[in-house]
Amino acid sequence: MKGLILSGGKGTRLRPLTYTSAKQLVPVANKPVLFYGIEAIAAAGIREIGIVVGDTQTEIRAAAGDGSRWGVRIQYIEQAAPLGLAHAVKISEGFLGRDPFVMYLGDNLLNKGITHFVEEFERERPAAQILLARVPDPQMFGVAQLSDGKVIRLVEKPKEPIGDLALVGVYMFGPEVFESVNRIRPSFRNELEITDAIQDLIDRGLTVRPHIVEGWWKDTGKLEDMLEANRLILDTYERRIEGTVDVESRIEGKVVVEPGAVVERSVIRGPAIIGRGARIVHAYVGPFTSIMNDVEIQDSEIEHSIVLEGSSVRNLANRVTDSLIGKNVRIYRMPVKPVAYRFMLGDNSEVGIRW
Ligand code: G1P
Repeated sequence: MKGLILSGGKGTRLRPLTYTSAKQLVPVANKPVLFYGIEAIAAAGIREIGIVVGDTQTEIRAAAGDGSRWGVRIQYIEQAAPLGLAHAVKISEGFLGRDPFVMYLGDNLLNKGITHFVEEFERERPAAQILLARVPDPQMFGVAQLSDGKVIRLVEKPKEPIGDLALVGVYMFGPEVFESVNRIRPSFRNELEITDAIQDLIDRGLTVRPHIVEGWWKDTGKLEDMLEANRLILDTYERRIEGTVDVESRIEGKVVVEPGAVVERSVIRGPAIIGRGARIVHAYVGPFTSIMNDVEIQDSEIEHSIVLEGSSVRNLANRVTDSLIGKNVRIYRMPVKPVAYRFMLGDNSEVGIRW
């Protein structure tokens, strides 16, 4: 059994962060989303992983390396253009050979992992097994229709409602899938859709087993989902204080303060994580906040947010909330006239100001 992680794509729904960085490397609870996927595959006992990469490959390769950190071997497979998930399977045939494999979309997060799912597939050995979850907005996903516990139809981003069972971004396939990915034609968004390839397996009379997801699942493609995933993961952490906290500070609840972090005259109310080298000075860090390495929060309040490496938030009059702040961003108060907002924002940035 092999693993195939898809880590290309443009991440348009997370711009401007994804202009400079791969969406799969945005951290949730201070760990890149991609790493949760690698860990889930390794935990299912799979040792050979192929990662399909595109424009952001340098960064992905630097982050995940050869996989030895997780006890797996990682190979990289270059996809010259983002032509769809089924196209990614097609170009990975050399790596996958005739082995059955699990395909994992690098921006998906599952709290219960995939071990049960993989075991069930190995036991039953259908041509494909798909993972499904009920969602309120099925038009945003691939959707499956079931009858008598069998998958009878699949539609990518259905315009007409056909149910609320969305395809989670984790799939299991036998080598039968290669014939299907070679038969299908590009979709309305000009991609070779894996959803169409699975429909083709059904049309060929092969078995596609559904498996309803246990626990929660998140596709972290956009801000709200990122913040929700951050909330869900932080909530599972145990309290661990390894950095320096002065006597004037209060640390409440499930808080992780990594070694080398400094907390002075501040209140941190968990669940929250403070990365290595971060400095929290005369500040309030509220629930569901992830502060990455080398971030500085000073004379400010922040909650329900993610702040990436090297950024600083200083002397703000109002609390920051529901925010995703990129790397090396500086937010501060400027005590000069005229009293006005001063911005330097990248394309597609978003700023919400208190009335
Ligand atoms: C892709 C798949 C879709 C699936 C989703 C899960 O969508 O095409 O069928 O439901 O991942 O995350 P995309 O992220 O390409 O819009």
